[in-house]
Amino acid sequence: MEQHKMVDLHSQYLRLKSDIDKAMADVLEQTSFINGPAVKVFQSNLEKYLNVKHVIPCANGTDALQIALMALNLQPGDEVITSTFTFIATVEVIALLKLKPVLVDVEPDTFTLLPEEVEKAITPMTKAIIPVHLFGQGADMNAIMSIAKKHHLKVVEDTAQAIGCDYNVNGSTTKLGTIGDIGCTSFFPSKNLGCFGDGGACFTNNDSLAEKMRMIVNHGSQKKYYHQIIGVNSRLDTLQAAVLDVKLKHLDDFNNRRKTAAKWYDEELKEIDNLVIPTRSSDSDHIFHQYTIKVKNGERDKLQNFLKENNIPSMVYYPVPLHQQEAFAAYQDSDSSLPNSEDLSTQVLSLPMHTELSEEQLKDITSTIKRFFNHGQ
Ligand SMILES: Cc1ncc(COP(=O)(O)O)c(C=O)c1O
Repeated sequence: MEQHKMVDLHSQYLRLKSDIDKAMADVLEQTSFINGPAVKVFQSNLEKYLNVKHVIPCANGTDALQIALMALNLQPGDEVITSTFTFIATVEVIALLKLKPVLVDVEPDTFTLLPEEVEKAITPMTKAIIPVHLFGQGADMNAIMSIAKKHHLKVVEDTAQAIGCDYNVNGSTTKLGTIGDIGCTSFFPSKNLGCFGDGGACFTNNDSLAEKMRMIVNHGSQKKYYHQIIGVNSRLDTLQAAVLDVKLKHLDDFNNRRKTAAKWYDEELKEIDNLVIPTRSSDSDHIFHQYTIKVKNGERDKLQNFLKENNIPSMVYYPVPLHQQEAFAAYQDSDSSLPNSEDLSTQVLSLPMHTELSEEQLKDITSTIKRFFNHGQ
């Protein structure tokens, strides 16, 4: 049996090696490393795949979020509501732009923004909401979009963990990241669509936001050496675009492989007391960027150690919710409490999840977990 890994990028590469090597060799041959033809080709193929008017490639997912917020004309002190239970990048960019991050709690079963908490947090300074589609499943976009409409707020979707996931928008199937004003994603290697370094993109159906984001990624410029606005330098390398264009053709297969592994985990783990398998929300598909269980008896860390002793890696995403992080202390009342996220940070455990998981590996992982709980062994 192959050694267990959280993510097995090497075996996936070997399966696609001839196409990827050729795509990379073509870029090397052209020496078109910056804004080469592969960037435009990938951009256009991703627009078709997502059924969105504009994809703006950039250097990573954190930049994508920053570029999206810069395009919205927000003013210092404006408030942006988002989840406290996410990767730091989502909130970091809000603070960097001198906006105020307003962190709210998540739904304890899907780990995504609680719409009623979003609505409670709205003030006259609120300008935008960033729902995070955590672990590969959509936040409650139907509720969030109606709150945004009612209060005239912009919506930026953090789709770093959910690219390719379908969502039911009032009866019509839509890709996550294309529902709000702007969607953002990351092509970090371990993501469902990952490159061989850093990469990211913004998506929008709005022509003027697209035009502005294209300027922002290019030093605020449309014409070389003429700069209309303050921008940044954030480009997707041509080599990364070439890899991504090969992988994009396999994205649905990648996501299906993850779903198959998740089904195996579900079947094997669902009967264990004190272990809760992931919940599916009603409007969203789940493409399992992570397969995250909850361990209810206070034994999460013991289970993690037991898995480690048996050569099975696992990860805690996330051990400290962002409202409790030192970096954001200035934005919180010292007694502020977001109990669902605080509980989750002591309960969640993500198991190995990738496109190459074999039945033998899954059997070994689930039987080891059952052994820990003395369940049916
Ligand atoms: C939810 C979320 N948002 C944003 C990012 C930032 O992406 P990147 O690492 O490409 O900057 C990540 C990546 O880990 C993420 O998981």
